[in-house]
Amino acid sequence: MIDITSKLPHVGTTIFTTIGQLAREHNAINLSQGFPNFDPDPELLALVSKAYKKEHNQYAPMQGALSLREAISEKIERLYSKHYNPESEITVTAGATQAIFTTIATFIQPKDEVIVIEPAFDCYEPAIALFGGKSVPVPLEGNDFKMNWSTFKSAITPKTKMVIINTPHNPTGTIWSERDMLRLQEILRGTNIILLSDEVYEHIVFDGKLHESAAKYPDLAARSLICASFGKTFHATGWKVGYCAAPKLLMQEFQKVHQFNVFSVHHPLQIALAEYLKYPQHYVNLGGFYQEKRDAFLDAIKDSRFKMVPSEGTYFQLLEYSDITNEKDTVFAEHLIKEYKLASIPVSVFCKGDYEKKFLRFCFAKTNNVLDKAAEILNSI
Ligand SMILES: Cc1ncc(COP(=O)(O)O)c(C=O)c1O
Repeated sequence: MIDITSKLPHVGTTIFTTIGQLAREHNAINLSQGFPNFDPDPELLALVSKAYKKEHNQYAPMQGALSLREAISEKIERLYSKHYNPESEITVTAGATQAIFTTIATFIQPKDEVIVIEPAFDCYEPAIALFGGKSVPVPLEGNDFKMNWSTFKSAITPKTKMVIINTPHNPTGTIWSERDMLRLQEILRGTNIILLSDEVYEHIVFDGKLHESAAKYPDLAARSLICASFGKTFHATGWKVGYCAAPKLLMQEFQKVHQFNVFSVHHPLQIALAEYLKYPQHYVNLGGFYQEKRDAFLDAIKDSRFKMVPSEGTYFQLLEYSDITNEKDTVFAEHLIKEYKLASIPVSVFCKGDYEKKFLRFCFAKTNNVLDKAAEILNSI
């Protein structure tokens, strides 16, 4: 036997794996993990097949295929009026997870503090810990998960190296307004703090609202690494292709790490995505597509005993269950799988400390028949 010291002693199997397994064992409808149960557009799939046949089967350039970086740059400029130079300010990554990991690996040194807004997507904290950093959680407040900006401000210390934000937000389905972004910009102005802006759900925003990218705010953009995912946008989470956009100085450092970690990403997919991305209709209607699902799902469960505030973005809907039971969310989630055959994610797993609120997260990126069956179950509880 060899003796090892774990670098992540507190990390076990992720909740998504555990819940997924339990859901399979109990033959439950699975609205836990965030992925669609339908395929990408056939047009995109045809472009992928074409790319395989067109000599794109060797390494892509380290930064990503130039045609894809150009298409990304045009998309960002069209939407947020900010130019990122495709030659020096964009890198194609193996999903947003790698963009996030590489951003943290590039900038976080032992004892650096990173402000993480909780509940938080699960990959931030372990990456911070791996590089000796310290996560400083700042909670979203109330049952509407609003940021208290004075709490946020008081969490900043001379050791704060980075802030991680995520809008639209997983798991709460809230989005940040222009006011939030301006407040953040004002608080960070004059500091040396880097902003990691996780914008993987940028195209899934509802009710006519707009996504507030860090790219839109000059003082934020200058300190931001924006991490994005084609998996979320094109119903292809299994492809694991995303990107990072940042000013040249930050991107140069990012690429130093990227080139010795991933080096380059699946080439044929990049070629296909570059072609597909040229047409805005392939992503500007995504909010409408998911809004219909959200509305149908909420309408179907409006008479249930769950309380709900419609999600503002992402493909997640939180349901509050305090009228049903006092059980902790992890216990109630297990209950739902075993007794009612419906899987969701308890929100407490997105928080480091004690978490007493009573919310479960349901993914509505599913075909209508699956959502209807889930609604039937939720109405029966
Ligand atoms: C908030 C958030 N960030 C990042 C990711 C990871 O994206 P990808 O699958 O492209 O690695 C996810 C995926 O669920 C997510 O919800």
